Amino acid sequence: MSEEQNGKPEERAWPELKLPDLLFTDTVRGLHEAIETEWDSLRRSACQTAAGRALWKHVIHDPHAELLAGEPFLRSLYEKIKKDRHSNAREVSGVMLAVRTLWFDEKIEAALSSFNGRAAQVVLLGAGMDARAYRLSCLKESNVFEVDLPEVLQTKTTILQAATESTNDHQHVMMTAKSLNRVAADIRDKDWLQKLQISGFDPEKNTVWVLEGILYYLSHSHAMEVLKIIANNCTLTQTVLLADFMNKPSTTLSSSVFHFYSDWPDHLLPSLGFSDVKLSQIGDPDAHFGLLHDPLNLFNKLRSLPRSLQTHPDDGTPCCRLYLVQASGSPNQTIP
Ligand SMILES: C[S@@+](CC[C@H](N)C(=O)[O-])C[C@H]1O[C@@H](n2cnc3c(N)ncnc32)[C@H](O)[C@@H]1O
Repeated sequence: MSEEQNGKPEERAWPELKLPDLLFTDTVRGLHEAIETEWDSLRRSACQTAAGRALWKHVIHDPHAELLAGEPFLRSLYEKIKKDRHSNAREVSGVMLAVRTLWFDEKIEAALSSFNGRAAQVVLLGAGMDARAYRLSCLKESNVFEVDLPEVLQTKTTILQAATESTNDHQHVMMTAKSLNRVAADIRDKDWLQKLQISGFDPEKNTVWVLEGILYYLSHSHAMEVLKIIANNCTLTQTVLLADFMNKPSTTLSSSVFHFYSDWPDHLLPSLGFSDVKLSQIGDPDAHFGLLHDPLNLFNKLRSLPRSLQTHPDDGTPCCRLYLVQASGSPNQTIP
């Protein structure tokens, strides 16, 4: 088919926003109204992330993202994307989230295959509206645990239930994971690991920990505590940790929301007992997925600067970086 028939590639990527009917049923609409009026920015970030995945659907296949995101978040991001495209921005809104999602997808699959077919479990800490248990075929032999605050998980369950009950979407709400358990817990509390175990998490089974978009919402002490709990668990089994870290300047983007940072997660994680730490920046060969060609976009410019720099030498703007980090642990390692 010619390009004329199909539209330009850019237009194919972001056609006019067309929302699914299910978003306008009483149940789903009511839930999203409550999210708008009652949830704080911490919880709302779950829907923002889903909106990013929904609008980057030309690279991320997430059949539930629109429904889980809700109309306000979808419209708001759609307008930003439209503005960026009209102004020929070097980075279109949501690109970082798209790259981050694809990076985690790829690394989860690689981690699971590194266990050579042995049974594994995947824990999504701060799972929010993540729908990997429904969209990643690599999870078919894995037990998945989604940990998040009670209201977030309850709302997610009810939305997906509404999708199951709608005849049209019945086909789509198929899980790709072997099993899925939702664990309502605040990971700032001491008992979250216990709650996870009560839900069936087995400390002796190979585990992939997925900490996507969560650590920087925690205080320094809470984030460190979470990382130490995971590190301690490595003494029992083969473990892969996947996490994103903000550097210090990134937390100033919203100092009321972001707290924990690490400028050197590749030093921090070994000090906690992890090994094989690999760090990527958005735009690196394993973290661009063909979405960041322009050498002058924000991410590529940052990559060319030493990581120790906190402000840009040309204009004094803060060097806001997001590090994508993988690390592993095994029973043979000693915890310092
Ligand atoms: C930016 S969202 C990311 C969601 C998910 N990881 C994803 O990529 O779609 C952050 C999530 O962390 C959850 N969260 C933040 N603080 C938490 C805490 N103390 N305990 C449990 N979940 C928390 C929020 O409710 C929200 O769902």
